Amino acid sequence: MRFSSFSVATASALALGASLLSTAAPIQKRAAAASDMLVLQFANVLEQFETQFYTQALAKFVEQDFISAGYSNAQIAIQQFQSIQIDESIHTTVLTQTIVDQGGQPLTSCQFNFDSILTDVTVMAANARVVENLGVAAYLGAARLVSDPVLLTAAASILTVEARHQTVLNILNAGSAIPSGFDIPFTPSEVLAIASQFISGCDLGVPANPTLSLTNTGTVAPGTALTFGSPALNGTVSNDSLFCQMLIGGAPFAIVLPFNACVVPDINGPVALFITSDQQPLANNVRDQAADKIIAGPTMAFIDTKPEVMGQLARGGAQSQASATLSSTTTQTITPAEASALISSASATATASASAATGGAITVNNAAGGPSDFTGTVGPITVQGWSAVPTSS
Ligand SMILES: *[C@@H]1O[C@H](CO)[C@@H](O)[C@H](O)[C@H]1NC(C)=O
Ligand SMILES: *[C@@H]1O[C@H](CO)[C@@H](O)[C@H](O)[C@H]1NC(C)=O
Repeated sequence: MRFSSFSVATASALALGASLLSTAAPIQKRAAAASDMLVLQFANVLEQFETQFYTQALAKFVEQDFISAGYSNAQIAIQQFQSIQIDESIHTTVLTQTIVDQGGQPLTSCQFNFDSILTDVTVMAANARVVENLGVAAYLGAARLVSDPVLLTAAASILTVEARHQTVLNILNAGSAIPSGFDIPFTPSEVLAIASQFISGCDLGVPANPTLSLTNTGTVAPGTALTFGSPALNGTVSNDSLFCQMLIGGAPFAIVLPFNACVVPDINGPVALFITSDQQPLANNVRDQAADKIIAGPTMAFIDTKPEVMGQLARGGAQSQASATLSSTTTQTITPAEASALISSASATATASASAATGGAITVNNAAGGPSDFTGTVGPITVQGWSAVPTSS
């Protein structure tokens, strides 16, 4: 059986969404501020992106594909994917109508091709997790750009639903349902670093950061050395002068490591990975983030170190895959001793060259009232910079 029959449910849900909108009189027939319109257009394309992802996934996979992926019952996953697809369709319809009501012209020419990540249900489900984290990150990162409080509240009411999807997908990927007390915001250019590779035929008017992909295969776990691919890693800048940065929810700044020793610390849940030209930790706060130091990314990975019974029940104990854009090569797991040696030599080099350039010591962002500068160990590796990652014992 193919799962195109839910289009009937979608059609009636869309009618409901449209009629709900037509009662939303206070935000109608008003010209939106330019930044509000940009956010509306961006959100609309992102919702089209999400809708298309689930539509294409549900059209492609049959029940047996879900069983093969380790679900104890195919409907555990299929019902949730159908329900999420309907929400994303309604969001698209409502945002499209809101753009029209506010005097804008909705972007309708975008094409979405997800063939590369719809190879099987395991890869699809891992990427659905990225799609929902991206949705949450996009609304969070755009909140500061919205000037109309009514629009901001409407956007927040979508965000809470995207967060619910995120939790369901954490469970369907056998990860922690609620891995962190905080989520990670992305700027529009950061959202596009992940989304733009699947979008063609339209111009959002926002530049995309260069795409970053993890080239590790297999399980990415604490101690795994991450390897990367990106059009921006083309030899123009030596990899020796680059840094990998890992942002996790709730940490005020990223964990910074040398590019060639980007070893996963002992964390659980989603992590946004960036490559930067500078070892100043990126701020989690998108207003103050040093966007000009980002060479590539982000890409998302999920480090599932705390499996929970609920996910295990759904997924029959199957291991979930990490990351947005998994592709070829091998996982390189190095020992803690090797990691420490690599990091101390690489960070000594970086410190020396930066000191030579500036004639002084490296300074780490240090806002009043925050935790103190941090240089210490997290699990087996040394972390440079300021971080709220708990030290594992
Ligand atoms: C190579 O990477 C640099 C940044 O690292 C970028 O500015 C440049 O456009 C890239 N070149 C190509 C051909 O992609
Ligand atoms: C830098 O790293 C990228 C990705 O791992 C790799 O493709 C590239 O060859 C490296 N560049 C150099 C000069 O080693």
